[in-house]
Amino acid sequence: MDKFNIAIDGPAGAGKSTAARLVAQRLGFIYVDTGAMYRAVTWKALSLGLRPDQTDAIAAMADSMELEILPGANGQIVLVDGRDVTEEIRSAAVTSNVSAVSQIPEVRARLVGMQKRMADEKGVVMDGRDIGTQVLPNAEVKVFLTASVKARAARRFEEIKLKQPNITLEQVEQDQAERDRMDQEREVSPLRRASDAVLLDATELNPEQVAERILEISRASSGKGA
Ligand code: DC
Repeated sequence: MDKFNIAIDGPAGAGKSTAARLVAQRLGFIYVDTGAMYRAVTWKALSLGLRPDQTDAIAAMADSMELEILPGANGQIVLVDGRDVTEEIRSAAVTSNVSAVSQIPEVRARLVGMQKRMADEKGVVMDGRDIGTQVLPNAEVKVFLTASVKARAARRFEEIKLKQPNITLEQVEQDQAERDRMDQEREVSPLRRASDAVLLDATELNPEQVAERILEISRASSGKGA
């Protein structure tokens, strides 16, 4: 089977990562979670004591830091300057600062360049916010995955409640709405559906069903897919 690229965009909590990972497994493709790359830059900025509004310092840091994304058994492994930060980039501190850091144009330029190179050889399932519009505008398959605010908050809440036992569903819903707003309203590469992306609503679907629909879309839109 020929290799091709699949771009999956959408708001936080729509289930992009799980579905993208399943699709990649089914096709034998490489899964790239670009949100993790913005989280890695944010993690390093915070670990150096930088605030998100120190944009020049963060831009310089992002330019010189070593960032590696490796395929692992349960998804991707993220290394910053050789250190495995796969778990740490999911912390509450990183989550609440990542939207601001991801608005810095130099940070985006560095990461988008890396992402384009990762997809050069094809056979990549990449998820994020600007994959179909900016990173892989020529991807053979583009999906915009969304779900109701309530469904997305419920999913995130399930993911984080063990790590953050004091958090409430209402808090998650509020944080998510704020993050959506920042991702959609920012000047550089805002979250929006590419005109040629297929809209998929995951409100009533489980991750396996979402993955199956993406495989169907792949078969239909490019004559490809398992
Ligand atoms: O998918 P996630 O929640 O891990 O993404 C973290 C943040 O990174 C999110 O607030 C938006 C940003 N992001 C982005 O700006 N562009 C991408 N391609 C992926 C993520």
